[in-house]
Amino acid sequence: MQLSRRTERLSASPIRELLKSINRPGIISFAGGLPASDSFPDLDISGVSKEVLQYGASEGESELRVRIADDLKMRGLQVKPEQVLVLSGSQQGIDLVAKLMIDQGTSVAVEAPSYLAALQVFSLFGAQYITYNAQDLSALHTSHPVQMLYTIPTFQNPTGHCYSEAERLALAERADALNCVLFEDDPYRDLAYDTCDRTPVCAYVERTSWIYQSSFSKTFAPGLRLGYLVCSEDLYEKLVWLKQAADLHSNRLSQTLVLTMLNADSQRLEQVVDSYRIKRDQFQQQLRQNMSSHATWEEPTGGLFFWLQLKRDLQINMDNLLQQALARNVAFMPGAPFFTTPVARSFMRLNFSHASNSQMQEGISILAELIDAAD
Ligand SMILES: Cc1ncc(COP(=O)(O)O)c(C=O)c1O
Repeated sequence: MQLSRRTERLSASPIRELLKSINRPGIISFAGGLPASDSFPDLDISGVSKEVLQYGASEGESELRVRIADDLKMRGLQVKPEQVLVLSGSQQGIDLVAKLMIDQGTSVAVEAPSYLAALQVFSLFGAQYITYNAQDLSALHTSHPVQMLYTIPTFQNPTGHCYSEAERLALAERADALNCVLFEDDPYRDLAYDTCDRTPVCAYVERTSWIYQSSFSKTFAPGLRLGYLVCSEDLYEKLVWLKQAADLHSNRLSQTLVLTMLNADSQRLEQVVDSYRIKRDQFQQQLRQNMSSHATWEEPTGGLFFWLQLKRDLQINMDNLLQQALARNVAFMPGAPFFTTPVARSFMRLNFSHASNSQMQEGISILAELIDAAD
């Protein structure tokens, strides 16, 4: 049997492997970007027409596309409903865009660190990486061609960083100068606990082609598998064709439910944000009590993660630490898979939205104890 060459670059997703173990009873999970289960909306499908059980349009339900375009205009991105493509989760957008843009050896600029499941997909298609971060765009130089620039400017996964207005403008200007496709991934933007600029970088682009995507996973429920992308008009048709080849169209029941919830205009999102802000503060308090001598971190102004950098003198094998933590029923995400090349320092990504306050206390003190013992 001869599998495609591409499969040689295929590997299991570290996060999905970890997620399998967190379904064990009693596990305290800081690993995935899981929303709190009690944030999920109540579902009522009694009024939904049976018509949604029929095949639908690849682009998505038209009313939902209108609603998405209206919301994006309020965020500063001027798009028409005809530019909206509804996705089966924004992870599908990453896959479709990779298919559109990446061949073996294609030069892709990513932040260091960046979302590991995007890196996995880009690598599968053969991406060669150039890395940058919000404060240092020097690697993005016109002498170095880049075909695509991937960014998560708002509550970045994994760092939680929210680009300032100046950083957004600088990145858009650089994408224009490089004449590359700017691919902006924005699933966390509605989970803002403090004020910061959240204008899409794509709104600042003047010339180059762009793709902006977001998700309903973090604000409604990931199990609905619903997200969307919008893009400059030159790219839209090909992305629709790729979507048709992948799954014909997104789940129509999910689209109907999300549209109904968006139109209900309830206070739900505000309540979710308020409860996550409390969780972020509780988590930070536990980190200060237990981790201050082991690690440094920035308080995230939104999103779902703390990104810890272990102190320079701590030489800890993070894979061993993870195994020891799992043996004590605590899961976290080691930092290495978020980088495209090995890094000298140790990092951990800790999700704060899923665990209860008592689980946070217990889990963080176990992690601190294990780091102490490993030191
Ligand atoms: C940056 C980023 N992009 C995309 C996704 C995929 O989200 P979904 O497919 O649930 O919309 C995630 C999920 O955590 C993410 O963090």
